[in-house]
Amino acid sequence: MKCLADNILVTGEAGFIGSTLVRDLIEKGNTVTVVDDLSMGRLSNLPESDQLTFDQKSIIDRKFMDELLMKHQFDYIYLLAAVASVADTIERPEVTHQINQDANLWIMETLRRNQLRPKKVIFTSSAAVYGDDPEQPKSEHSRIVPLSPYAIDKFASERFVIDYGRLYGLNTAATRFFNVYGPRQNPSSPYSGVLSLITQRLQDGQLFTLFGDGTQSRDFVYVGDVVSALQLIADTPDSNGQVYNVATGRSVSLIETIRIFEKISGDKLKIEFAEQRLGDIKRSEADISKLQGLGFEPKFDLETGLRRYWEFNQNH
Ligand code: NAD
Ligand code: UD1
Repeated sequence: MKCLADNILVTGEAGFIGSTLVRDLIEKGNTVTVVDDLSMGRLSNLPESDQLTFDQKSIIDRKFMDELLMKHQFDYIYLLAAVASVADTIERPEVTHQINQDANLWIMETLRRNQLRPKKVIFTSSAAVYGDDPEQPKSEHSRIVPLSPYAIDKFASERFVIDYGRLYGLNTAATRFFNVYGPRQNPSSPYSGVLSLITQRLQDGQLFTLFGDGTQSRDFVYVGDVVSALQLIADTPDSNGQVYNVATGRSVSLIETIRIFEKISGDKLKIEFAEQRLGDIKRSEADISKLQGLGFEPKFDLETGLRRYWEFNQNH
């Protein structure tokens, strides 16, 4: 097991998954540096702690990132900062490419050029790289069919991170998250994750727009399980050079998910149907046996996770 009090960098940590990760890292006694431009993340997501340093900066600021990496010589680096919306990258492909790919490549290049040797660099890729290939469930060996700038950048960055490990002797790994949900996911953009939008619509009684007929399915995974997976991969030397699906192994249609959420909240969601989104994926389900090989087991099925999420929102 990794020893306590590591010096850790997390990019994008004021966001949904990052802010859940930071709580865990701080509880375990680590010192954490956060770089986030707050484009989607919120300062209020971060806990108050003298183990935490926050820089409101963009990861595309090369000079700043160089200086930061040189100054702190981090033990662990988690690369989470990204424009996380597939639809947003279709609207702004060039701008989002700079964040989702170029900035991550630059971080790896800074490590290489300066012979910095963190104990591990973990890049957070996405199930979006599998695209619409009909084979289900998706294993890490499934065909890669990126259907959006988001998926292209995620796959390319994943390869850069893994191959910088292989070519230049860095310890690296990557995760392909499926659809993550839970407390602190920001619902304020029309491109926000669907379960954060549904939560908000259930609370404010406003109309929810369902793109497509609701039969599209996703492997929704609770954020607590995702953070456990990240820590497990960071702590396991055998994960070097490897890519892991992070999910539950079970896919549920959007309409069925809505019905489960309605049962939990006791409210009926008002739905209007609209055309399926460009680049949208019909079905997404993970084979998680590779991650299970490291000892991972998801603790939250969809109903348990949604219940936790709903209760968190009621109390905050
Ligand atoms: P999020 O939007 O809540 O978090 C991303 C964070 O990155 C935000 O806080 C945002 O402000 C920050 N950010 C964006 N551009 C930045 C920039 N130029 N410089 C610095 N910070 C910047 O999203 P999330 O759901 O927490 O996603 C975290 C990571 O996991 C992302 O890389 C995302 O692509 C990946 N991922 C998420 C999911 C999911 O279902 N949520 C699934 C697969 C992969
Ligand atoms: C999500 C993540 C992406 C991640 C991918 C991995 C977000 C914003 N996106 O993409 O980062 O890489 O999972 O699988 O977290 N929908 C509606 N109405 C809405 C919003 C969405 O019907 O208002 C539908 C979409 O058309 C889609 C489904 O809900 O069919 C899920 O959409 P979304 O939450 O945006 O996730 P993905 O595109 O799967």
